[in-house]
This record gives sequence, C-alpha cells and structure tokens, in this order.
Amino acid sequence: MARTFRQGPLERAIEAVVAAAGSDAIEARRVAQNLVLANLLGHDSHGIGMIPRYVDAVLEGGLAPNAHPKIMLDTGTLLTLDGCKGYGQSIGHEAMQLAIERVKKHGSCIMALGNSHHLGRIGHWAEMAVAEGFVSIHFVNVISHARVAPYGGRDARFGTNPCCIAVPLPGEAPFVLDYATSAVAQGKLRVAHNKGETVPFGRLIDTDGNPTQDPRYAVIPPFGAMLAFGEHKGYGMAMACELLGGALTGGGTWHYDESSQQRVLNGMLAIVLDVKKLGTAQAFEREARLFLDWLRKARPAPGFDRVRLAGEPEREMRAARSRDGVPVDDTTWEEIQRAAEKVKLPRSRVESLALER
Ligand SMILES: NC(=O)c1ccc[n+]([C@@H]2O[C@H](COP(=O)([O-])OP(=O)(O)OC[C@H]3O[C@@H](n4cnc5c(N)ncnc54)[C@H](O)[C@@H]3O)[C@@H](O)[C@H]2O)c1
Repeated sequence: MARTFRQGPLERAIEAVVAAAGSDAIEARRVAQNLVLANLLGHDSHGIGMIPRYVDAVLEGGLAPNAHPKIMLDTGTLLTLDGCKGYGQSIGHEAMQLAIERVKKHGSCIMALGNSHHLGRIGHWAEMAVAEGFVSIHFVNVISHARVAPYGGRDARFGTNPCCIAVPLPGEAPFVLDYATSAVAQGKLRVAHNKGETVPFGRLIDTDGNPTQDPRYAVIPPFGAMLAFGEHKGYGMAMACELLGGALTGGGTWHYDESSQQRVLNGMLAIVLDVKKLGTAQAFEREARLFLDWLRKARPAPGFDRVRLAGEPEREMRAARSRDGVPVDDTTWEEIQRAAEKVKLPRSRVESLALER
C-alpha cells in the first residue's frame, strides 16, 4: 500500500525530523528538499526512504550535523575538500558552490571531495553547475557495504559507485546522465524481494557466483553479489569511480570486511567546465543542435513512443508527481515515523505536518 503526499508538506515533515536529529534550519531544509526532489524525479531509492538510515548514522556518530566542507587545497582550478562526515546535502551544496565560483573566474575547476556523508542523487550536484551553463562530470565511490562483484569475481568488493555527466543544451533542457554502475539499484532489488518477484538474469549472482534471479541475494544474508551494468564495461566504470572518487579525493576506498555501521560516505571527483571559455561555443551549439535533430529522427523501436535524452524521464516524472503527489509506501512511512521517535519527535507531529494543506 502507498499513500501520496504533496511536495511542500512532505518537505516540512522531513525537515522536522532532520532538525530533531540536530541540524540547524538551513541544513534541515536542504536535506528535506534534496530527498523529496529525488522522490519527485522518480528516484525513490535516493529519496525520503534514506531518513531512517541518516538518523541511525547521526545517533551512531557516523554523520555529523551542521558540518561544512574544509578547504584542504585551493589553486583556483584545483580544489580539494574534506566533507567532515557532514550531511551530503549540505556538503555537496557548499562544495559545488565553491567549485562554481572558481569556474566563473578560471573557466574550469577540478573539485576533489572526500569524506562526505551520502550525497544522494549525484545529478543534483551536476544540475547546479549545468544551471550556470557549465558541463559537469562526476565520479563517486561509496563507503558503506561491498555489494557489487568485480567482473569475473564471485565476491562483492565495492558499492554501487554512481557516475554522472551533465551537458547544457542549446535551446532546451540539459542532458543529465546519472546512474549507479551496478546493473540495478539495490533499492529496486529490495522492492522486488518484498513483492516476492524475481529479477532478470544479469543483475545478480548467488553465494557460489552463479547467475540468479532471486533478489534475496542482494537483500538478506548470506549475500551473493550484484553485478555491474554492461559486464566488463560497467565494471571498469565502477573501478574508475573507486579510483577517482575514493582514492584520488583522499576520501578512501572500500577495502574492508562487512560493516555494521549505518553511515554511508561518498567521495566525489567533479570536473566542471565553462563551455563558453573553451573557444568552441559556437561550434558546440551548432553541432549539438544538428546532432540532437538527427538523433530524434530515429524511428521508435517496438514498445517505445520516441527516443529520449537522459534527464527527460526525470522531468516527465517530476511533472506527474508535482500534479498527483509523491507516493510513499507504508513500510517506508512507518520507518520514517520510527526514526522521528528515536530523536524525540512524536509520530503524530510528522503525520500532521505531512498532511497539512
Ligand atoms: N550517493 C550514492 O552513493 C549513490 C549510489 C548509487 C546511485 N546513486 C543515485 O541513484 C540514482 C538512480 O540510479 P540508477 O542507476 O537507479 O538510475 P537509472 O537506472 O534509473 O538510470 C537513470 C539515468 O538513465 C536515464 N534514462 C532512463 N531512461 C531513459 C531513456 N528511456 N532514455 C534515455 N535516458 C534514460 C535517466 O535520465 C538517468 O540519467 C542516481 O541519481 C544516482 O546518482 C547514488
């Protein structure tokens, strides 16, 4: 069963939980707006369902409310930041603001951010840069649990390491390619498991390394492992995320046995570039336009209505959910209310805020 909530009231309910867990008003609002936006865009796996985990992480001391990025190095075009285990929604926002200021001045900035708590939907950060007319490229690693096996291996060795490339497009909304390098997000396997459904082959292996359609191997111990998308190709991208987002940022790589901690740390290498300063702006506009027109003349394949660009499905979902409300399943809502109680916010308060008009 799912209930639907309007964006504004849902944000205020989530904001109250984050504030009760110790965040100041600005941070509580940023976290709530970021998570509800992920739901609005259709990425429920990175939306308000993260709240119980964030609250546990705060209570365990693995997530520090009200932290700000610490500048470790700043040459203008090179920027190294320590996220100080702060909320990714605050750290990511402030880190991207710092990078964007430098791109406005110098034309580009490579920003290495280590040790941030969960950065959520990586497209959120790319969209801040693309709104300024900048290209934004992100490699991210995850320090939480090893869930994905290397190509040719049977044991999980890294997380769902996302990457994102956003490009402003002439005369239309940007291209925003943003995904996990695992063949499917772990949250989607949990949903399939809860519904008693199987998943297609190519997403998972069991504890012996054999292909399986049973999502339990990603959800309950003993775990098998998830697979990267596109066999050796996705595996290579996941490695790039670990090396660039984890090792190069100084945030750290995953090389541990199983952890019981609830915190999720992300490292992110971001490359941000002003299209206008590269000397190719006119060619870019012309060639991008010609290419997009040509691409869209591709006839739809059976089962498709048209060819879309990355970023479009999220914008379509946003329009639908802004109109119809954000569906939240009963289990997720119950877990959020229990999280609120852990930080002494009555569930009745969360409920009434979420249902306000
Ligand atoms: N912070 C973290 O630790 C972490 C880890 C993993 C994933 N994530 C985030 O989770 C989110 C979901 O990841 P995912 O792997 O489930 O995403 P996904 O498989 O839904 O793929 C999303 C991408 O594919 C594009 N896309 C989808 N359908 C399309 C179509 N028909 N035509 C063209 N493009 C299309 C979307 O626009 C988007 O860019 C992402 O925002 C990612 O950043 C975060």
